[in-house]
Amino acid sequence: MEKQEIQKNFFIPMPVVLVGTQVQGRANFMAVGWCTRVNGNPPMIACGINNNHATPEGIAATGTFSVNIPSSALMEKTDYCGMVSGRTTDKSRVFDVFYGTLKTAPMIRECPVTLECRLVQAVLLPTHTLFIGEIAGAYADNSVIKDGKPDVPAIDPLLLTMPDNRYWRLGRHAGDAWSAGKSLKSS
Ligand SMILES: Cc1cc2nc3c(=O)[nH]c(=O)nc-3n(C[C@H](O)[C@H](O)[C@H](O)COP(=O)(O)O)c2cc1C
Repeated sequence: MEKQEIQKNFFIPMPVVLVGTQVQGRANFMAVGWCTRVNGNPPMIACGINNNHATPEGIAATGTFSVNIPSSALMEKTDYCGMVSGRTTDKSRVFDVFYGTLKTAPMIRECPVTLECRLVQAVLLPTHTLFIGEIAGAYADNSVIKDGKPDVPAIDPLLLTMPDNRYWRLGRHAGDAWSAGKSLKSS
């Protein structure tokens, strides 16, 4: 198959989350596409955040942050939080805020799933810092729980593609992980 070189900033869909911190003593939320699980036990999550944003200051101030998963219905507000900085704009009233056990990581009541994290490590990179947090608390709306677990179609998360900068919703269920390849395993 012939290949051609493409822009190096391409990646397949990323989750869109809102990272919550305390900036100048008030709740602040920024949109983040570069967020992923990075450790199983204890559960840890990592976010790549530009060093010029207000959010790194907020994380440094309390050693905590939250990761809020918006549904597609929150696209407009999420995008807004990705365009204006807490340095110049008060984003504390965009959402209804609540706190969990950590007390310092603001979470968003309107988001169907929210995680509060304790900072474990900050890895400084040329333009961004990879903030690794241990998940200290996880909360979900009753309406998205199915058979005792969060149901991803019910959460209806936003996905992001770059460099076309488009939001997407979940597609069709293609198969089951740790199962679809079983027929190729030698017995
Ligand atoms: C959909 C979307 C995803 C984004 N993902 C990231 C990201 O992963 N890392 C980052 O540093 N900035 C990201 N941004 C940009 C920040 O959200 C934006 O600069 C924001 O204003 C920073 O807010 P703050 O200064 O209050 O921290 C994203 C913006 C959008 C719209």
